[in-house]
Amino acid sequence: MKDLDWGNLGFAYQKTDYRFVARYKDGAWDEGRLTTDESITMNESACVLQYAQTCFEGLKAYRTKDGHIVCFRPDLNAARMADSCRRMIMPVFPEDKFVDAVVQTVRANADWVPPFGSGATLYVRPFMFGADPILGVKPANEFEFRIFCTPVGPYFKGGVKPLTVRISDYDRAAPRGTGHIKAGLNYAMSLYAIVDAHEQGYDENMYPDAGTRTYLEETGGANILLITKDGKVVTPKSDSILPSITRRSLMFVAKEYLGLEVEERKVRIDELDQFAECGLCGTAAVISPVGKIVDHGREICYGMDKMGPITEKLYKTLVGIQMGEIEAPEGWIKRID
Ligand code: PLP
Ligand code: COI
Repeated sequence: MKDLDWGNLGFAYQKTDYRFVARYKDGAWDEGRLTTDESITMNESACVLQYAQTCFEGLKAYRTKDGHIVCFRPDLNAARMADSCRRMIMPVFPEDKFVDAVVQTVRANADWVPPFGSGATLYVRPFMFGADPILGVKPANEFEFRIFCTPVGPYFKGGVKPLTVRISDYDRAAPRGTGHIKAGLNYAMSLYAIVDAHEQGYDENMYPDAGTRTYLEETGGANILLITKDGKVVTPKSDSILPSITRRSLMFVAKEYLGLEVEERKVRIDELDQFAECGLCGTAAVISPVGKIVDHGREICYGMDKMGPITEKLYKTLVGIQMGEIEAPEGWIKRID
């Protein structure tokens, strides 16, 4: 195992030993291979550089209590990446080969998987881009699919300290746009808003639906969970939010492990003060509690001291499943080593 200060890692890139690279040319993917070279050389007019033809995924590998390396539901990342590719006119990297490439990449970087109990994990980043030169607006002909991984700590500074977020004046995703896939362009859209939010003292933006600005959608990098005063778990429903694997897993855990009522429905921004707890959920965020939402001067407070009790139960159960301390539902944990 590498000698890193595992307990104090932030969410930042660090070069590891191996990454996976496959190339699509003349209508077919090659087998792909592991390489130590982290650099990419491409033509100045590559489609990704000019027209942002790219999408990505994010998942994590964990070291379990009994010393195995596992990752969490990589088949769902494979399926979501296939959806992203179809929407971006990119060739799907076959889903079984995607999972196999994740396994190869994590296995080759086993020394970088943080120790059990350190609070750190190995973040795995599959991505694809249009790699050959084009000039008119059209898709590329050649593509590269790559996976790198890097050890990470908490996404939000301060770990599980409740966050202060605002309802954004900017939009993230258009109705009938690309909000439901993991396209780089959605994140480009959010950069101005996130820098502005940080400058104004907020940790993140919560985006309303761009069409009517009435309903809550998600943040720049996580879905939203809300807990009603009588303990029901509610999550916003919309066609323009990313179908978070963490959120889908948490809704299952809430219902099947904790016996809670769950509901996916439209959530109005003006009803946010009716809830008792709020959290942001995603691979990077795990569940990060929201202490306060600021909606143009109206403040909705859930408590800045600590994570709410139901959010905490959800968090502990999910992390317990991921780390091998609680029995996982069939097919959720992919053993790597
Ligand atoms: N929403 C957005 C916009 C994201 O970027 C992410 C991160 O992947 C999520 C939600 C959470 O999705 P998941 O739980 O699959 O990581
Ligand atoms: C993730 O949770 O995997 C994400 O991609 C969120 C953010 C880092 C973009």
